[in-house]
Amino acid sequence: MPSSSHPMTDTRLASLRSTLPALRLLTDPADLEHYGCDWTRRWTPAPLAVALPDSVEQVQALVRWAHAAGVAIVPSGGRTGLSGGAVAANGELVVSLERMHKVLGFDPVDRTLTVQAGIALQRVQEAAREHGLQYPVDFAARGSCSIGGNIATNAGGIRVLRYGNTREWIAGLTLVTGTGEVLELGRGLVKNSSGYDLRHLVIASEGTLGIIVEAILRLTEPPPPSHVMLLALPSFQALMQVFAAFRSRLQLQAFEFFTDHALRHVLAHGAQAPFAEMHPYYVVTEFSSDAASEAEAMAAFEQCMEAGLASDGVLSASDAQSAQLWRLREGITESLARHVPYKNDVSVRISAMPAFLEDTQALLAQEYPQFEVVWFGHIGDGNLHINILKPESMPAPAFVADCERVTKLLAEVLLRHGGSISAEHGIGLVKKPYLGCTRSAEEIALMRGIKAVLDPNGIMNPGKLFDP
Ligand code: FAD
Ligand code: MLT
Ligand code: ZN
Repeated sequence: MPSSSHPMTDTRLASLRSTLPALRLLTDPADLEHYGCDWTRRWTPAPLAVALPDSVEQVQALVRWAHAAGVAIVPSGGRTGLSGGAVAANGELVVSLERMHKVLGFDPVDRTLTVQAGIALQRVQEAAREHGLQYPVDFAARGSCSIGGNIATNAGGIRVLRYGNTREWIAGLTLVTGTGEVLELGRGLVKNSSGYDLRHLVIASEGTLGIIVEAILRLTEPPPPSHVMLLALPSFQALMQVFAAFRSRLQLQAFEFFTDHALRHVLAHGAQAPFAEMHPYYVVTEFSSDAASEAEAMAAFEQCMEAGLASDGVLSASDAQSAQLWRLREGITESLARHVPYKNDVSVRISAMPAFLEDTQALLAQEYPQFEVVWFGHIGDGNLHINILKPESMPAPAFVADCERVTKLLAEVLLRHGGSISAEHGIGLVKKPYLGCTRSAEEIALMRGIKAVLDPNGIMNPGKLFDP
């Protein structure tokens, strides 16, 4: 249980209160527990306090105080993160951006939306729609995750295949560095060849370089009306061939996969079964619903059926049915949450996917005979989610230790196939031991050097991504 009764804690809090009397500060044990963890639920929250600033000036002042006092800060968005990036388990000051959630402006010529970083992704999507445009990054945590968190993790989601990751949509951002300097990076320019683009260093930095306080988001044309198709597949080997068949005929907005295990959990969580029978693998794909695309999709489907690559399929006939089909894929994370899954979030180049899948399937079959393993993910982007479910009777530390042993082996497979240990969730605490399979020692040394420039006292989310 977090406590704030240590004399050192009290001195620091008194100092913060006297420096910033207008800052809203939470120290109630229930608040410390709530704001000190993310979706991983693996660490016991123990922050010093939770600060809820409401302006860039307040963020700047509190970072200056923390820099001088040597107090560690954990930037906090919606805490939907899946890698422990927003965990505060060591007396850090959590800086939650939840009160900084406004749309600050829309520019119809630039087609940009300027927002405070604490705004929820869904609110950004709605604001874009209100202006007849689209902010296309999308995933199931949309209602609770924040734009600041999305930028700090370079979040991906279900339409990366068509629109790319968060990185593509950040025309500018304002960062308060670890010394309390305010940097406006990118400033909404489309073209800018005036030296290093520091904005891109901040994207995916997981709160280790500073606090993102505002962002200029690029918007685009609204999506065309679309169809969703659910396919049932007889084998894992068929997956990439079905992808090739559909992608060669259509501009796909999404191509996602999951297994029968995933489907069973989502059905147990209240979703409706799509077919009379269960099949081992499923794909959800989305494409424009114009007549030409529909004809191409049907042709691709028939081609897959004839080649034995697909065993059944359904095409959405309404928006409500599309939503029902999407629920089968988007409901997976929530349906697994009660099983405290250990999550791998890995990627390889799409061309390397068939060979990587074969090696990974063999590895996991050998190493996890005792656990239920649930596979799903953004297979069209080369991103696989592997969730290992904790048996109810097994103590969490022993379960995690076994999964970490296997993750080391998986990291070797990734290294062989030129992949990444984190495709979209970030490294945080969960994947820190495996960073070296994705980044060379020289790269990690350079990253440490960059952090030392922007955060010389090492107060910004210390211990996340890599150790000091
Ligand atoms: P938090 O969890 O609060 O923080 C994440 C990291 O960002 C931490 O390191 C934190 O310190 C840092 N941070 C937060 N705000 C700031 C800021 N203002 N300035 C600097 N650093 C900051 N992710 C995907 O990429 N694709 C998916 O499809 C996807 N689906 C999900 C579905 C569900 C149901 C859930 C629960 C999660 C999913 N996620 C997915 C993971 C998660 O939602 C994303 O990582 C998201 O970007 C985190 O945003 P957040 O605001 O919750 O960040
Ligand atoms: C997803 O693709 O559903 C998310 O990344 C969440 C998860 O991996 O659980
Ligand atoms: Zn994902």
